[in-house]
Amino acid sequence: MKNTNDNLPFDNPMSLEESISNFAGYLSWLQNTIEELYKVHEARQLRYESGLKDIEHKLTHHLFDLKCWDFFERELLEKVDDAGYVIDRHYWQQLTAELIRAASLQHDVLARTISREDVFSTYAELYDSVNGERNFEYISQEIQFIHDTYHLDFSAAQILSIGCGTGIMEEHFLKAFNLKKNQLLGIDVSEGMVKVASKRINARVEDILNLVHEDNPWDICLCTANVLQYLPHHSLEKAIQNVAHITQTGGCFIGDFITPEHPIRAYPNVLRSEKVFLLRTPLIVEKAHNLFQQTKLINVSKLQGEFRITYEGEHTRYLPSLWKLRYLFKKYFEHVEFFDAMTLEPLEAEDDTSPSSRYLVFAQKAD
Ligand SMILES: C[S@@+](CC[C@H](N)C(=O)[O-])C[C@H]1O[C@@H](n2cnc3c(N)ncnc32)[C@H](O)[C@@H]1O
Repeated sequence: MKNTNDNLPFDNPMSLEESISNFAGYLSWLQNTIEELYKVHEARQLRYESGLKDIEHKLTHHLFDLKCWDFFERELLEKVDDAGYVIDRHYWQQLTAELIRAASLQHDVLARTISREDVFSTYAELYDSVNGERNFEYISQEIQFIHDTYHLDFSAAQILSIGCGTGIMEEHFLKAFNLKKNQLLGIDVSEGMVKVASKRINARVEDILNLVHEDNPWDICLCTANVLQYLPHHSLEKAIQNVAHITQTGGCFIGDFITPEHPIRAYPNVLRSEKVFLLRTPLIVEKAHNLFQQTKLINVSKLQGEFRITYEGEHTRYLPSLWKLRYLFKKYFEHVEFFDAMTLEPLEAEDDTSPSSRYLVFAQKAD
């Protein structure tokens, strides 16, 4: 009698450890294993056999086996310096291209074989473990400075945080100023981000380009970690106009930006937390006389007991001149001041850049 498993690849799949001795062999191993997995998966659709289910399970487990993390970590750390900059450019190009392919294979497997609520659900968690605390430190300093300089009273203020991300900064902010949860609303265009933010603050999905808050203008609009630079460049004015529109008379906007001179050298290729490596390849590009910083982002993580590679795509930040931003804020707000984000020294009207290449904007509506 014909064995029903005859055409199947193997019924005892080799683990990563048995198959390769370093990360260089990982991608072809991954590709082979995935092909085998799909064959088993298709066979299972055609006929029910408990043996097939076990093989599928075993193969899937191998793909996300935490042992891959050890290979990866060992190899990567040999190729970057202590500050996280890559030493060997050629290696980096090859590695990132392979990881993007591996991320797409892993993603495909999750989408095809495992029913999950949201295959992108790790993104916000990854963002927090790599960026969250880091951003929080400098942003707190910025807000405290504006609060002290302009003698702002947050105690009864209604605050909107635009592009709130995971809400980690807003949660700290409420605590630092002893404010109530219902004084702040975070909005973000990303559902994944809002899902995480909602566990910390009041948050909802909303696009800054479609803001309608006519009945409930805000006392303070926050916009931290250069959110406005993530918008399509031709929408910058519309966004600033929208913010001015929903800001109370006497209310203000507090936000930060980077200048076109902001060095890509400021971004080490590798950032890490205990369970996540964030791999970045930033570039400055020019398109139709506008400058952008474009960064490919890849996360390699061992969260939730799985080795995961996630390609977060290419993040693009528009780099308008400081003069252009000053012009736009002055067009829609009555009182506008710019400060260097590190020294917190005021920037004068004739300054065309900021010494630290980051700056803060305080823009107030007239009473
Ligand atoms: C670098 S993150 C900053 C997050 C947070 N403000 C912080 O300080 O960590 C930029 C955020 O802007 C959000 N964003 C981008 N375009 C947006 C838009 N049109 N409307 C609302 N949020 C937007 C992104 O989804 C992302 O969460």
